Amino acid sequence: MSASYELHGPVAVITLNNPPVNGLGYETRRAVADGIDRAQADAAVKAIVITGAGKAFSGGADIKEFGSPKAIAEPNLLSLIRALELCSKPVVAAVHSVCMGGGLELALGCHYRVASPGANVALPEVKIGLIPGAGGTQRLPRVLGVETALNMIVSGDPVKSEVLAGLPGQKLFDKLIDGDLMAGALAFAAEVADQRPLPLVRDMLVRHANPDGYFQFARNTVKAMARNFPAPAKCVDAVEASIKRRFDDGMLYEREIFMGLMITPECKALRHAFFAERAASKIPDVPEDTPVRAVKKLAVIGAGTMGGGIAMNFLNAGTPVVMLEMKQEALDRGVATIRKNYESQVKKGKLKADKYEERMALLSTTLSYDAIGDADMVIEAVFEDMEVKKAVFEQLDRVMKPGAILASNTSTLDVNKIAAFTKRPQDVIGTHFFSPANVMKLLEVVRGEKTAKDVLATVMQLGKKIRKTCVVSGVCDGFIGNRMIEQYSRQAGFLLEEGCTPAQVDKAVEKFGFAMGPFRMGDLAGNDVGWYIRKRRYLEKPNLRYSKTADLLCEMGRFGQKTGAGWYDYQAGKRDAIPSPVVNEMIEKHRTAMGITPRQISDDEIVHRLVFSLVNEAARLLEEGIAQRASDVDMVYLTGYGFPLHRGGPMCYADTLGLYNVAQTMKRFAANPNDDAEFWQPAPLLAKLVAEGKSFS
Ligand code: NAI
Repeated sequence: MSASYELHGPVAVITLNNPPVNGLGYETRRAVADGIDRAQADAAVKAIVITGAGKAFSGGADIKEFGSPKAIAEPNLLSLIRALELCSKPVVAAVHSVCMGGGLELALGCHYRVASPGANVALPEVKIGLIPGAGGTQRLPRVLGVETALNMIVSGDPVKSEVLAGLPGQKLFDKLIDGDLMAGALAFAAEVADQRPLPLVRDMLVRHANPDGYFQFARNTVKAMARNFPAPAKCVDAVEASIKRRFDDGMLYEREIFMGLMITPECKALRHAFFAERAASKIPDVPEDTPVRAVKKLAVIGAGTMGGGIAMNFLNAGTPVVMLEMKQEALDRGVATIRKNYESQVKKGKLKADKYEERMALLSTTLSYDAIGDADMVIEAVFEDMEVKKAVFEQLDRVMKPGAILASNTSTLDVNKIAAFTKRPQDVIGTHFFSPANVMKLLEVVRGEKTAKDVLATVMQLGKKIRKTCVVSGVCDGFIGNRMIEQYSRQAGFLLEEGCTPAQVDKAVEKFGFAMGPFRMGDLAGNDVGWYIRKRRYLEKPNLRYSKTADLLCEMGRFGQKTGAGWYDYQAGKRDAIPSPVVNEMIEKHRTAMGITPRQISDDEIVHRLVFSLVNEAARLLEEGIAQRASDVDMVYLTGYGFPLHRGGPMCYADTLGLYNVAQTMKRFAANPNDDAEFWQPAPLLAKLVAEGKSFS
């Protein structure tokens, strides 16, 4: 049953019942339409109330139906809304909790609307690259005025029902009902049972004192904000139609825009990211009902860059944290950094002073392992050195209570080896946070060979609690993200050797949409980090070719912004990257020494060498089972590496271009004598998909 029908005296109550958020899937739409017919046919029924069971009025379209024929099967949402309008008896929407997208459009098709305070009301379609498609852009301006309606439609953000109900002249809610919503809705329905004619939102007038000036202003603002996405500007067009066209023409125009957006790559990318995020939390052999361990207290080992950021995540979520260090000075420094971070949030008005104190009160520190044994979970963030990790995990094994989860934030070391330092490898897991750990969304959850399923399930749930996007990775050097970025960095180095400057590479990549090109990124993160990793890596793989330019840069002491010089020059106190003649000369000298004649390299080649290196390595990760699914790789890159959202991630981008084209291009790259021909052989999985005419998705 996806909607129920009940009589309460002369009022028929139709209750949407499609958990979790009463999505308007086919069965639900059908059941509402049947309910309306039944109520019309029953002479005893004088009015109808539509509401939602459980935690929502309605969250809108049923995402399970997305893209399937069921999504538009009759009665589709437009027909259903029309049926509500044409109903000869008053229909009252009783809104609570969540009223979004199609749910709000449905309510706008009712003759009256009452609401509980606290309901989140939104038209969030813009967030998946669309505009509302069932009259939202034409009806919302009629009840809220163009400005409020456009703000809601263009941002997609929810506004509380009581805020909307308090706006002067608003016609969205006929009544705000404190207390029992159903009792209030039934009383309201009885009041309006004899009202005729029935009010229709479509008949209301939209007015604005200076529509041309306003829409021009709105267009300029949106253009500056929306950057790579077409939908926000289209929201302006559609809302403008609500004032400039007749209602039915406005509806047609809305539909035309909706259909046009649906096929854009940007919309595809946003929908992909939306589903990828949901898919990432699922682990095929760990069912969703796997019991989890309670984590009420956390210990963090190491109060450095990562330890402090990790602790903040948990303090923000209300979990007590104890931090352990070797020396009091290190603890003091760590706590001072956390304070500084919170204080800057308070200064910017992002955090209330009392919240700051509340969070700090949850933090304690210690120099003794014996003081952390009662924590339910411990996250280690000490130096990246196997001997140090060994010493720490042996201590943890000694002191932590049975069943405690032992996590390592290592970015490159073997989690299975770390687990083997304990007598409880089933309790050991990797939690790879990204820097700054209190800001970055991504959390790679590294599943060791022996990690217990309930440990994995617990950490995934915990990740959600601290508002991270969790992606599961198997154990390998670099896990998903860093193993791929290594290939990207190698390509960036080859591009310099073949004729590019750092600025040329960065510019091409930034034009593609990355927040930062590889060289500006290196300067920000510190070029020495990669230098140390390379020293170890290329000792292990002496035959792996890479460009020595980055090593030469580090030998010049140019570690990046922190030393005032890196791939670029920096003026004291400023972050602007200024192309450096010294660096360009170093690159030229190196190029000459290698006997390479420089050539002009197009932006296209730059971008595709960098992005396809990610794709090819990811295909290998998928084949090895390190990554569970291609969309997980996209989540890693969208949330951890600044990959442009409007491209949907490297795998989605490759799918959009067509894998055949991608593989052909890789073969061309392989023929370049200054590149790594072996690397550019399309990964077997990629070759297989091409042969079968398939895509990653
Ligand atoms: P850091 O050098 O800033 O902090 C490490 C802290 O651990 C220092 O305060 C040090 O005093 C403390 N420490 C060292 N040995 C200890 C021991 N035996 N017992 C207690 N405390 C000890 O290092 P960072 O950057 O915070 O890195 C920590 C871990 O996080 C490393 O495994 C690193 O690979 C990983 N990581 C680092 C990222 C970054 O961007 N910095 C990103 C992701 C992971």
